[in-house]
Parts: sequence; structure tokens; C-alpha cells
Amino acid sequence: MSGYGRCNDHGVIFKRIEDFEVFKTARKLSIAVVAIVGGEGFGNDCDLRRQLLDASDSVVANLAEGFEQPTDRAFAKYVYTAKASAAEVRARLGLAHDRRCMADEELREGTDLADHVTRLCAGLIRHLLHSNRKDRGVQRGKRPTTGDQPATSDRPVTGDQRPTNDCRLTVDLRPTTSDYEYHPPMPKLTVEGHRTVDVEPGKRLVLAIEQDAKVDVLHACGGNARCTTCRVEFIAGEPERMTVAEKTVLAAKGASGVRLSCQITVDQDMVVRAISRLEGSGRPDPGATPLPTVQPPPEYTTR
Ligand code: FES
Repeated sequence: MSGYGRCNDHGVIFKRIEDFEVFKTARKLSIAVVAIVGGEGFGNDCDLRRQLLDASDSVVANLAEGFEQPTDRAFAKYVYTAKASAAEVRARLGLAHDRRCMADEELREGTDLADHVTRLCAGLIRHLLHSNRKDRGVQRGKRPTTGDQPATSDRPVTGDQRPTNDCRLTVDLRPTTSDYEYHPPMPKLTVEGHRTVDVEPGKRLVLAIEQDAKVDVLHACGGNARCTTCRVEFIAGEPERMTVAEKTVLAAKGASGVRLSCQITVDQDMVVRAISRLEGSGRPDPGATPLPTVQPPPEYTTR
């Protein structure tokens, strides 16, 4: 699955993001959301309408932006975000239904589409991580057309490894060895004193601790970088990047040596200490369940 311009009996070349099933389905989801929020049931709930439109736009936009990235891993990062946005659409459709903004049939249609996008994104992520090309040929000039023109790459090129800027992803469609069936290792999360679990890449750490490791971490503000009750200590695998929201609130509280699990996604193996638990806190519950995507929409800096 490596190389450029590969196209034989077993494979097809996707030249445009519009060729991807996941992109086609994302557009259907976007159209469905526009129709749903245009209904009378939404009345004056402008916030929910805007949030749904933003989330469905984010799915399409991240897939398109990711397709233009120079490496498979960089592309996969954007697909993670698109996948999380599809999950957000699903969650917000549920909220809208709870508020009686939409009919059962609309919820079913929207949820089915969002689930389909999520599954297709997961398959594409697996494919990209398996393929793991370091150069997808998307940042070159045009391919030379005459023998005396220099190659646009400084890498030696031969045969079907010749660079081309119109073959951005090859997908093997052989039914018995589809790359979409490849399952790379998932990141492992260990909560000290508790269990080690595999986590869906890109999942919010606070949700992974609670839902996968089954540890009663607090998230009093619902994962919005306000309360700091979701704080954890890293033993290993602490990410370098940090949301501006996390940095700001930790600085305001004078907290050091801790990270906010609601502001971190699990993209690598991690070992953490859950230091803020429901047990012993005197609180009636851990707080509202955080949305699947990092909130507020993340702007990243370094720690
Ligand atoms: S800061 Fe409130 S849940 Fe993370």
C-alpha cells in the first residue's frame, strides 16, 4: 500500500476527497442536519441549531483539510477530528430530540448517518495508520512531462514510485485483504491502582478514565475547562501539547504538576493517577457527561 500512482487490478486511486465514501456520507449528514434544524421544532433554540450546523460542517471540513496533508498520519489526525465531530452531531441530535425539537424519524435518520460516518472514519484511520506514508505527494509541483525536466522530489524515483501530485491515496479493494480490516494496536491507558485498557484513538481522556477504566473521575463543569476537578497526574505518556483553555485555567488556579483530563485526547499510551474522584468528594455525582469532542473547541499550545 505504499508508493505513488499505484493502480492495478486490485486497487483504485482516489484523486479527490469527493471520491471517498466517508466524504459522501458526511455531506449527506450535513444536508440532513440543515433540513432538521430548519424545522419548526427548533423554534428559538438558536444555540443548538448553530452547534449542530457547526459540528456537521466540521466533519466535512476536516476530511477535506486532512486530505491535503502531506503524510498519512497527518491526514489521520484530521479524520480523528471529523470522527469526533460526527459523534458530537449524534449527541446533539439526541439533545434536540429530548427537547422535542425534532421527530423520531428525523432522529433516526440523523443518528444512522452520524454512526455511518463514524464507522467509515474509523476504517479510514486504520488504513492511514497502517499505510503510514511519509509523503503523500500532495505538496509537489506538477509531475514532469518531458525527460529533461527535473523531478519535483529530491528523493530518487523509479518505476511506479515516480512522484505524482494526483495520486493521493491508493486503497486496496481486494475482498480478502482489505486495508479497512486492518486493526492496528489501540493506545493503552493505565490508571494507577486500577486497570489497563485499550482506548479508541482520539477519545477524551476524562471519558476514557470513566468509561473504559471505570474510575469515578470528577468532571464538575462537564468537561469545559472551568472547574479543574478532572485533574490527573501523569506517570507516563504526558502529551506535549496543551489547550490554551487548560493552560489558562491551571495558571489561574496556580495548579502545577497536573493536567486536565477533559482537555486531552488519548492518542498514545498513557499512565495516569486519578487524584480527583467522586468517592470521598461529598458530591452527589461526577458532573454532566462531557461531550465526545474537546470543549471549548481546542486551540493548542505547548505545556
Ligand atoms: S475542567 Fe471541568 S471537567 Fe475538566
